[in-house]
Amino acid sequence: MAVDVLLGLQWGDEGKGKIVDVLAPQYDIIARFQGGPNAGHTLIFDGQKFVLHTIPSGIFRPGLQNLIGNGVVIDPITLGKELDKLEAAGVEYKDRLFVSRKAHLILPSHRLLDAARENAKGDRKIGSTLKGIGPTYMDKTGRNGLRVGNVEAPDFRERYEELKEKHKQLVGLYPFVEFELAKEEEAWFKAVERLKGLQFVDGEFWINDAIKAGKKILAEGAQGSMLDIDFGTYPFVTSSNTITAGVCTGLGIAPQQIGEVIGITKAYCTRVGGGPFPTELHGETGEFLRKEGGEFGATTGRPRRCGWIDLVQLRYTIMLNGVTQLVVTKVDVLNNFETLKAADAYNVEGKISRTLPFDLVHENYEVVYTDVPGWNSNLTSVKEEANLPQACMDYVRFLEEKLETRVSMVSTGPDREELVTR
Ligand code: GDP
Ligand code: IMO
Ligand code: MG
Repeated sequence: MAVDVLLGLQWGDEGKGKIVDVLAPQYDIIARFQGGPNAGHTLIFDGQKFVLHTIPSGIFRPGLQNLIGNGVVIDPITLGKELDKLEAAGVEYKDRLFVSRKAHLILPSHRLLDAARENAKGDRKIGSTLKGIGPTYMDKTGRNGLRVGNVEAPDFRERYEELKEKHKQLVGLYPFVEFELAKEEEAWFKAVERLKGLQFVDGEFWINDAIKAGKKILAEGAQGSMLDIDFGTYPFVTSSNTITAGVCTGLGIAPQQIGEVIGITKAYCTRVGGGPFPTELHGETGEFLRKEGGEFGATTGRPRRCGWIDLVQLRYTIMLNGVTQLVVTKVDVLNNFETLKAADAYNVEGKISRTLPFDLVHENYEVVYTDVPGWNSNLTSVKEEANLPQACMDYVRFLEEKLETRVSMVSTGPDREELVTR
Protein backbone atom coordinates (compact mmCIF):
# COMPACT_ATOMS: atom_id res chain seq x y z
CA MET A 1 0.00 0.00 0.00
CA ALA A 2 1.38 3.42 -0.99
CA VAL A 3 2.07 6.35 1.29
CA ASP A 4 -0.03 9.38 0.32
CA VAL A 5 1.33 12.85 0.98
CA LEU A 6 -0.46 16.04 1.95
CA LEU A 7 1.44 19.31 1.92
CA GLY A 8 1.17 23.08 1.51
CA LEU A 9 2.00 24.62 -1.88
CA GLN A 10 2.46 28.23 -0.75
CA TRP A 11 4.18 29.81 2.28
CA GLY A 12 2.39 27.69 4.91
CA ASP A 13 -0.95 27.93 6.69
CA GLU A 14 -2.89 26.64 3.67
CA GLY A 15 -5.23 24.66 5.93
CA LYS A 16 -3.24 21.42 6.11
CA GLY A 17 -4.42 20.58 9.64
CA LYS A 18 -8.07 20.81 8.67
CA ILE A 19 -7.70 18.69 5.54
CA VAL A 20 -5.60 16.00 7.29
CA ASP A 21 -8.29 15.79 9.96
CA VAL A 22 -10.96 15.42 7.26
CA LEU A 23 -9.07 12.71 5.38
CA ALA A 24 -7.76 10.88 8.45
CA PRO A 25 -10.57 8.29 8.69
CA GLN A 26 -9.44 6.93 5.29
CA TYR A 27 -6.03 6.09 6.78
CA ASP A 28 -4.50 3.89 9.50
CA ILE A 29 -1.47 6.09 10.20
CA ILE A 30 -0.75 9.83 9.98
CA ALA A 31 2.96 10.70 10.00
CA ARG A 32 4.69 14.06 10.31
CA PHE A 33 7.97 14.04 8.35
CA GLN A 34 9.63 17.43 8.90
CA GLY A 35 9.44 20.77 10.68
CA GLY A 36 8.69 21.20 14.32
CA PRO A 37 6.83 23.55 16.62
CA ASN A 38 7.16 26.36 14.07
CA ALA A 39 4.07 24.69 12.57
CA GLY A 40 0.58 25.53 13.79
CA HIS A 41 -2.15 23.28 12.37
CA THR A 42 -5.69 24.27 13.27
CA LEU A 43 -8.52 21.74 13.60
CA ILE A 44 -12.11 22.75 14.29
CA PHE A 45 -14.90 20.27 14.98
CA ASP A 46 -17.90 19.90 17.31
CA GLY A 47 -17.51 23.55 18.34
CA GLN A 48 -13.95 23.00 19.58
CA LYS A 49 -10.68 24.38 18.23
CA PHE A 50 -7.26 22.74 18.58
CA VAL A 51 -3.88 23.93 17.31
CA LEU A 52 -1.25 21.22 16.88
CA HIS A 53 2.47 21.99 16.53
CA THR A 54 4.31 18.67 16.69
CA ILE A 55 1.60 16.04 16.98
CA PRO A 56 0.13 14.78 13.69
CA SER A 57 -3.38 15.98 12.85
CA GLY A 58 -4.83 12.47 12.97
CA ILE A 59 -4.75 12.36 16.76
CA PHE A 60 -8.42 13.27 17.25
CA ARG A 61 -9.65 10.36 15.15
CA PRO A 62 -10.03 7.32 17.41
CA GLY A 63 -8.08 4.22 16.49
CA LEU A 64 -5.62 6.02 14.22
CA GLN A 65 -1.89 5.74 14.85
CA ASN A 66 0.26 8.87 14.66
CA LEU A 67 4.00 8.99 14.06
CA ILE A 68 6.38 11.88 14.69
CA GLY A 69 9.04 10.96 12.13
CA ASN A 70 12.83 11.24 12.22
CA GLY A 71 12.74 14.39 10.05
CA VAL A 72 10.85 16.32 12.73
CA VAL A 73 12.60 18.41 15.38
CA ILE A 74 10.98 18.12 18.80
CA ASP A 75 10.88 20.56 21.67
CA PRO A 76 9.82 18.44 24.66
CA ILE A 77 8.33 21.54 26.32
CA THR A 78 5.96 22.37 23.43
CA LEU A 79 5.14 18.70 22.97
CA GLY A 80 4.28 18.46 26.67
CA LYS A 81 1.90 21.40 26.36
CA GLU A 82 0.21 19.73 23.41
CA LEU A 83 -0.19 16.53 25.41
CA ASP A 84 -1.77 18.56 28.26
CA LYS A 85 -4.38 19.85 25.85
CA LEU A 86 -5.14 16.36 24.57
CA GLU A 87 -5.54 15.12 28.13
CA ALA A 88 -7.81 18.04 29.02
CA ALA A 89 -9.99 17.17 26.03
CA GLY A 90 -10.10 13.51 27.08
CA VAL A 91 -8.21 12.32 24.00
CA GLU A 92 -6.57 8.95 24.61
CA TYR A 93 -3.18 9.10 22.87
CA LYS A 94 -0.78 6.83 24.78
CA ASP A 95 -1.29 3.76 22.59
CA ARG A 96 -1.53 5.75 19.38
CA LEU A 97 1.33 8.23 19.41
CA PHE A 98 4.80 7.08 18.33
CA VAL A 99 8.05 9.02 18.23
CA SER A 100 11.01 8.14 16.04
CA ARG A 101 14.23 7.67 18.02
CA LYS A 102 16.07 9.49 15.24
CA ALA A 103 14.08 12.74 15.57
CA HIS A 104 16.32 15.58 16.80
CA LEU A 105 15.73 17.49 20.01
CA ILE A 106 15.35 21.25 20.28
CA LEU A 107 17.29 22.42 23.35
CA PRO A 108 16.50 25.66 25.20
CA SER A 109 19.86 26.98 24.00
CA HIS A 110 18.73 26.38 20.37
CA ARG A 111 15.90 28.80 21.05
CA LEU A 112 18.30 31.24 22.65
CA LEU A 113 20.55 31.03 19.61
CA ASP A 114 17.57 31.53 17.27
CA ALA A 115 16.59 34.68 19.18
CA ALA A 116 20.14 36.08 19.26
CA ARG A 117 20.72 35.46 15.55
CA GLU A 118 17.40 36.95 14.46
CA ASN A 119 17.88 39.96 16.69
CA ALA A 120 21.31 40.60 15.19
CA LYS A 121 19.88 40.56 11.64
CA GLY A 122 17.99 43.83 12.17
CA ASP A 123 15.81 44.62 9.14
CA ARG A 124 17.09 41.53 7.29
CA LYS A 125 15.20 39.39 9.81
CA ILE A 126 13.71 36.18 8.47
CA GLY A 127 10.76 36.52 10.80
CA SER A 128 11.49 33.14 12.36
CA THR A 129 8.97 31.76 14.83
CA LEU A 130 11.96 31.61 17.25
CA LYS A 131 11.22 28.01 18.16
CA GLY A 132 14.85 27.01 17.65
CA ILE A 133 14.24 25.35 14.28
CA GLY A 134 17.23 26.76 12.35
CA PRO A 135 19.84 26.08 15.06
CA THR A 136 18.52 22.54 15.64
CA TYR A 137 18.69 21.56 11.96
CA MET A 138 22.09 23.24 11.84
CA ASP A 139 23.32 20.91 14.61
CA LYS A 140 21.73 17.97 12.80
CA THR A 141 23.63 18.61 9.54
CA GLY A 142 26.68 19.76 11.53
CA ARG A 143 26.61 16.35 13.28
CA ASN A 144 26.33 17.73 16.79
CA GLY A 145 22.66 17.11 17.52
CA LEU A 146 20.93 15.17 20.27
CA ARG A 147 18.20 12.76 19.28
CA VAL A 148 15.16 11.30 21.00
CA GLY A 149 16.92 7.94 21.28
CA ASN A 150 19.74 9.55 23.28
CA VAL A 151 17.58 10.55 26.23
CA GLU A 152 17.80 7.13 27.83
CA ALA A 153 21.60 6.88 27.55
CA PRO A 154 23.68 7.32 30.72
CA ASP A 155 25.74 10.10 29.16
CA PHE A 156 22.71 12.14 28.05
CA ARG A 157 23.24 14.94 30.58
CA GLU A 158 26.92 15.16 29.68
CA ARG A 159 26.17 15.43 25.99
CA TYR A 160 23.53 18.02 26.72
CA GLU A 161 25.98 20.17 28.70
CA GLU A 162 28.58 19.88 25.96
CA LEU A 163 26.18 21.07 23.29
CA LYS A 164 24.85 23.83 25.52
CA GLU A 165 28.38 25.11 26.08
CA LYS A 166 28.92 25.29 22.31
CA HIS A 167 25.71 27.28 22.00
CA LYS A 168 26.76 29.66 24.75
CA GLN A 169 29.98 30.39 22.90
CA LEU A 170 28.07 31.06 19.71
CA VAL A 171 25.58 33.30 21.48
CA GLY A 172 28.54 35.41 22.60
CA LEU A 173 29.03 36.43 18.94
CA TYR A 174 25.73 38.32 18.93
CA PRO A 175 24.33 41.27 20.85
CA PHE A 176 22.65 40.35 24.14
CA VAL A 177 19.05 39.07 24.17
CA GLU A 178 16.89 38.42 27.21
CA PHE A 179 16.51 34.65 27.83
CA GLU A 180 16.08 32.82 31.13
CA LEU A 181 18.17 29.80 30.28
CA ALA A 182 18.24 28.21 33.74
CA LYS A 183 14.47 28.38 34.07
CA GLU A 184 13.93 27.01 30.58
CA GLU A 185 16.36 24.17 31.26
CA GLU A 186 14.49 23.12 34.34
CA ALA A 187 11.22 22.95 32.39
CA TRP A 188 13.01 21.13 29.57
CA PHE A 189 14.41 18.32 31.72
CA LYS A 190 10.98 17.83 33.29
CA ALA A 191 9.49 17.64 29.83
CA VAL A 192 12.16 15.13 28.76
CA GLU A 193 11.02 12.85 31.61
CA ARG A 194 7.51 13.06 30.21
CA LEU A 195 8.77 12.43 26.69
CA LYS A 196 10.27 9.17 27.99
CA GLY A 197 6.74 8.01 28.76
CA LEU A 198 5.85 8.04 25.04
CA GLN A 199 6.43 5.13 22.71
CA PHE A 200 9.80 5.44 21.01
CA VAL A 201 10.19 3.49 17.79
CA ASP A 202 12.76 2.96 15.08
CA GLY A 203 10.49 4.91 12.78
CA GLU A 204 11.96 3.66 9.51
CA PHE A 205 11.37 -0.01 10.42
CA TRP A 206 8.04 0.77 12.04
CA ILE A 207 6.68 2.48 8.95
CA ASN A 208 8.07 -0.02 6.44
CA ASP A 209 6.52 -2.85 8.46
CA ALA A 210 3.24 -0.95 8.37
CA ILE A 211 3.52 -0.57 4.58
CA LYS A 212 4.18 -4.33 4.27
CA ALA A 213 1.18 -5.06 6.47
CA GLY A 214 -1.00 -3.10 4.02
CA LYS A 215 -1.67 -0.14 6.30
CA LYS A 216 -2.82 3.10 4.70
CA ILE A 217 -0.50 5.97 5.53
CA LEU A 218 -0.81 9.73 5.07
CA ALA A 219 2.34 11.86 5.43
CA GLU A 220 1.48 15.32 6.77
CA GLY A 221 3.68 18.22 5.69
CA ALA A 222 4.40 21.32 7.70
CA GLN A 223 5.17 24.82 6.37
CA GLY A 224 4.81 25.16 2.60
CA SER A 225 6.91 24.48 -0.49
CA MET A 226 7.93 28.15 -0.81
CA LEU A 227 9.59 27.80 2.60
CA ASP A 228 11.61 24.75 1.48
CA ILE A 229 15.31 25.07 2.31
CA ASP A 230 16.34 24.27 -1.29
CA PHE A 231 13.53 25.61 -3.44
CA GLY A 232 11.87 28.30 -1.33
CA THR A 233 12.54 32.04 -1.29
CA TYR A 234 16.00 31.58 0.22
CA PRO A 235 17.17 32.83 2.70
CA PHE A 236 13.61 33.61 3.82
CA VAL A 237 12.76 29.94 4.31
CA THR A 238 12.66 27.33 7.04
CA SER A 239 15.45 24.78 7.56
CA SER A 240 13.88 21.56 6.24
CA ASN A 241 12.75 20.07 2.94
CA THR A 242 9.04 20.72 3.00
CA ILE A 243 8.41 19.08 -0.40
CA THR A 244 7.47 15.48 -1.25
CA ALA A 245 11.15 14.49 -1.36
CA GLY A 246 11.27 15.27 2.38
CA VAL A 247 8.83 12.41 3.02
CA CYS A 248 11.46 9.85 2.01
CA THR A 249 14.21 11.25 4.22
CA GLY A 250 11.86 12.34 7.01
CA LEU A 251 10.24 8.92 7.43
CA GLY A 252 12.72 6.50 5.89
CA ILE A 253 10.66 5.26 2.97
CA ALA A 254 11.67 4.70 -0.64
CA PRO A 255 10.41 7.01 -3.42
CA GLN A 256 8.40 4.29 -5.12
CA GLN A 257 6.25 4.00 -1.99
CA ILE A 258 4.76 7.46 -2.62
CA GLY A 259 1.17 7.37 -3.88
CA GLU A 260 -1.15 10.36 -4.18
CA VAL A 261 0.32 13.80 -3.55
CA ILE A 262 -2.37 16.14 -2.28
CA GLY A 263 -1.32 19.77 -2.63
CA ILE A 264 -3.15 22.44 -0.65
CA THR A 265 -3.52 26.03 -1.75
CA LYS A 266 -5.60 28.86 -0.41
CA ALA A 267 -7.90 30.50 -2.95
CA TYR A 268 -5.64 33.52 -2.41
CA CYS A 269 -2.20 33.60 -0.75
CA THR A 270 -0.59 34.50 2.58
CA ARG A 271 2.85 34.64 4.13
CA VAL A 272 3.95 35.33 7.68
CA GLY A 273 7.42 36.67 8.44
CA GLY A 274 9.86 38.39 6.10
CA GLY A 275 10.81 37.71 2.49
CA PRO A 276 9.47 38.26 -0.99
CA PHE A 277 5.77 37.90 -1.73
CA PRO A 278 5.18 39.08 -5.31
CA THR A 279 1.35 39.23 -5.18
CA GLU A 280 1.13 40.86 -1.75
CA LEU A 281 -1.63 43.44 -1.32
CA HIS A 282 -0.57 46.32 0.87
CA GLY A 283 -3.72 48.44 0.89
CA GLU A 284 -7.35 47.98 1.81
CA THR A 285 -7.82 44.73 -0.11
CA GLY A 286 -5.00 43.04 1.82
CA GLU A 287 -6.45 44.29 5.07
CA PHE A 288 -9.87 42.98 4.03
CA LEU A 289 -8.50 39.51 3.28
CA ARG A 290 -6.68 39.44 6.63
CA LYS A 291 -9.89 40.27 8.45
CA GLU A 292 -12.19 37.98 6.44
CA GLY A 293 -9.70 35.11 6.58
CA GLY A 294 -8.72 35.58 10.23
CA GLU A 295 -5.16 35.68 8.95
CA PHE A 296 -3.17 35.71 12.17
CA GLY A 297 -0.46 33.11 12.86
CA ALA A 298 -1.61 29.94 14.65
CA THR A 299 1.79 29.70 16.38
CA THR A 300 2.89 33.29 16.94
CA GLY A 301 -0.34 35.30 16.53
CA ARG A 302 1.41 37.63 14.07
CA PRO A 303 -0.72 39.19 11.30
CA ARG A 304 -0.23 37.29 8.05
CA ARG A 305 0.56 39.21 4.88
CA CYS A 306 -2.18 38.65 2.27
CA GLY A 307 -2.29 38.75 -1.53
CA TRP A 308 -3.74 37.22 -4.70
CA ILE A 309 -3.17 33.64 -5.76
CA ASP A 310 0.05 33.20 -7.75
CA LEU A 311 -0.23 30.62 -10.54
CA VAL A 312 3.43 30.95 -11.53
CA GLN A 313 4.39 30.05 -7.98
CA LEU A 314 1.84 27.22 -7.80
CA ARG A 315 2.97 25.68 -11.11
CA TYR A 316 6.47 25.63 -9.64
CA THR A 317 5.50 23.87 -6.42
CA ILE A 318 3.15 21.45 -8.22
CA MET A 319 6.12 20.48 -10.36
CA LEU A 320 8.48 20.07 -7.40
CA ASN A 321 6.04 17.93 -5.45
CA GLY A 322 4.48 15.84 -8.21
CA VAL A 323 1.03 16.94 -7.06
CA THR A 324 -1.71 14.59 -8.26
CA GLN A 325 -4.68 16.47 -6.78
CA LEU A 326 -5.33 19.94 -5.45
CA VAL A 327 -7.36 21.11 -2.50
CA VAL A 328 -8.44 24.76 -2.57
CA THR A 329 -9.18 26.20 0.87
CA LYS A 330 -10.77 29.38 2.16
CA VAL A 331 -12.85 30.12 -0.95
CA ASP A 332 -15.45 31.58 1.46
CA VAL A 333 -12.97 34.37 2.29
CA LEU A 334 -13.45 35.62 -1.30
CA ASN A 335 -17.25 35.93 -0.92
CA ASN A 336 -17.36 39.68 -1.42
CA PHE A 337 -15.46 40.36 -4.63
CA GLU A 338 -16.78 41.46 -8.04
CA THR A 339 -13.44 40.58 -9.58
CA LEU A 340 -10.53 38.43 -8.41
CA LYS A 341 -6.99 38.54 -9.66
CA ALA A 342 -4.52 35.74 -10.31
CA ALA A 343 -0.84 36.14 -11.18
CA ASP A 344 -0.36 34.27 -14.45
CA ALA A 345 3.13 35.39 -15.49
CA TYR A 346 6.04 37.55 -14.43
CA ASN A 347 7.53 40.30 -16.53
CA VAL A 348 11.25 39.96 -15.89
CA GLU A 349 13.10 42.94 -17.31
CA GLY A 350 10.71 43.20 -20.25
CA LYS A 351 10.41 39.44 -20.93
CA ILE A 352 7.24 37.53 -20.07
CA SER A 353 8.10 34.50 -17.98
CA ARG A 354 5.90 31.65 -16.79
CA THR A 355 8.54 30.29 -14.47
CA LEU A 356 9.83 31.78 -11.23
CA PRO A 357 12.98 33.88 -11.48
CA PHE A 358 16.09 32.57 -9.64
CA ASP A 359 15.97 35.16 -6.92
CA LEU A 360 12.64 36.70 -5.98
CA VAL A 361 14.50 38.83 -3.47
CA HIS A 362 16.69 40.83 -5.83
CA GLU A 363 15.48 40.30 -9.36
CA ASN A 364 13.66 43.05 -11.15
CA TYR A 365 10.20 41.76 -12.10
CA GLU A 366 6.55 42.72 -12.25
CA VAL A 367 3.58 40.44 -11.79
CA VAL A 368 1.19 40.06 -14.76
CA TYR A 369 -2.36 39.49 -13.53
CA THR A 370 -5.43 37.89 -15.11
CA ASP A 371 -8.86 39.07 -13.93
CA VAL A 372 -11.41 36.43 -12.95
CA PRO A 373 -15.08 37.20 -12.11
CA GLY A 374 -15.90 36.85 -8.41
CA TRP A 375 -19.14 35.25 -7.11
CA ASN A 376 -20.02 38.04 -4.70
CA SER A 377 -22.31 35.79 -2.67
CA ASN A 378 -22.02 33.86 0.56
CA LEU A 379 -20.80 30.29 0.19
CA THR A 380 -19.72 29.74 3.79
CA SER A 381 -20.59 26.19 4.87
CA VAL A 382 -21.59 25.02 1.37
CA LYS A 383 -21.09 21.22 1.28
CA GLU A 384 -22.37 20.23 -2.17
CA GLU A 385 -20.78 21.10 -5.47
CA ALA A 386 -24.26 21.85 -6.84
CA ASN A 387 -24.66 24.61 -4.26
CA LEU A 388 -21.50 26.46 -5.24
CA PRO A 389 -22.28 29.54 -7.35
CA GLN A 390 -21.42 29.20 -11.04
CA ALA A 391 -18.68 31.87 -10.78
CA CYS A 392 -17.02 29.93 -7.95
CA MET A 393 -17.06 26.72 -10.00
CA ASP A 394 -15.65 28.69 -12.92
CA TYR A 395 -12.82 29.89 -10.64
CA VAL A 396 -12.11 26.29 -9.62
CA ARG A 397 -12.07 25.19 -13.28
CA PHE A 398 -9.87 28.17 -14.15
CA LEU A 399 -7.37 26.96 -11.54
CA GLU A 400 -7.57 23.38 -12.84
CA GLU A 401 -6.89 24.54 -16.37
CA LYS A 402 -4.05 26.91 -15.49
CA LEU A 403 -2.42 24.45 -13.10
CA GLU A 404 -3.14 21.32 -15.17
CA THR A 405 -4.17 19.47 -12.03
CA ARG A 406 -7.59 18.39 -10.82
CA VAL A 407 -9.16 19.99 -7.76
CA SER A 408 -10.55 17.21 -5.57
CA MET A 409 -11.83 19.33 -2.69
CA VAL A 410 -12.96 22.88 -2.05
CA SER A 411 -13.00 24.09 1.54
CA THR A 412 -15.74 26.56 2.43
CA GLY A 413 -15.11 27.22 6.12
CA PRO A 414 -12.81 26.24 9.00
CA ASP A 415 -14.98 23.44 10.40
CA ARG A 416 -14.35 19.78 9.59
CA GLU A 417 -17.79 19.66 7.96
CA GLU A 418 -17.37 22.70 5.72
CA LEU A 419 -16.06 21.02 2.59
CA VAL A 420 -17.09 20.18 -0.95
CA THR A 421 -15.65 16.89 -2.22
CA ARG A 422 -15.69 16.55 -5.98
P1 GDP B 1 -2.05 24.92 8.44
O1 GDP B 1 -0.80 25.41 9.11
O2 GDP B 1 -1.84 24.68 6.99
O3 GDP B 1 -2.67 23.73 9.12
O4 GDP B 1 -3.09 26.12 8.54
P2 GDP B 1 -3.39 27.04 9.84
O5 GDP B 1 -4.20 26.26 10.79
O6 GDP B 1 -2.15 27.68 10.32
O7 GDP B 1 -4.22 28.21 9.15
C1 GDP B 1 -5.39 27.98 8.46
C2 GDP B 1 -6.50 28.82 9.12
O8 GDP B 1 -7.62 28.87 8.26
C3 GDP B 1 -7.01 28.22 10.42
O9 GDP B 1 -7.46 29.24 11.26
C4 GDP B 1 -8.19 27.34 9.94
O10 GDP B 1 -9.15 27.15 10.97
C5 GDP B 1 -8.74 28.20 8.85
N1 GDP B 1 -9.38 27.50 7.73
C6 GDP B 1 -9.05 26.31 7.15
N2 GDP B 1 -9.84 26.07 6.07
C7 GDP B 1 -10.67 27.14 5.97
C8 GDP B 1 -11.70 27.50 5.05
O11 GDP B 1 -11.99 26.80 4.08
N3 GDP B 1 -12.33 28.68 5.27
C9 GDP B 1 -12.03 29.51 6.31
N4 GDP B 1 -12.70 30.63 6.44
N5 GDP B 1 -11.07 29.20 7.19
C10 GDP B 1 -10.39 28.03 7.01
P1 IMO C 1 2.57 25.68 9.16
O1 IMO C 1 2.95 24.23 9.25
C1 IMO C 1 3.73 29.73 8.03
C2 IMO C 1 7.94 30.81 8.50
C3 IMO C 1 8.26 31.83 9.57
C4 IMO C 1 9.50 32.48 8.97
C5 IMO C 1 10.20 31.30 8.29
C6 IMO C 1 11.29 30.66 9.14
O2 IMO C 1 1.65 26.15 10.21
O3 IMO C 1 2.13 26.00 7.76
P2 IMO C 1 11.38 29.19 11.36
O4 IMO C 1 10.61 29.28 12.62
O5 IMO C 1 11.20 27.92 10.62
O6 IMO C 1 12.81 29.56 11.54
O7 IMO C 1 10.77 30.37 10.43
O8 IMO C 1 9.19 30.34 8.03
N1 IMO C 1 7.18 29.64 8.99
C7 IMO C 1 5.88 29.44 8.74
N2 IMO C 1 4.98 30.23 8.12
N3 IMO C 1 3.36 28.51 8.49
C8 IMO C 1 4.27 27.70 9.09
O9 IMO C 1 3.98 26.43 9.43
C9 IMO C 1 5.58 28.18 9.29
N4 IMO C 1 6.69 27.66 9.86
C10 IMO C 1 7.67 28.58 9.66
O10 IMO C 1 7.21 32.75 9.74
O11 IMO C 1 9.12 33.40 7.97
MG1 MG D 1 -0.17 27.02 10.32
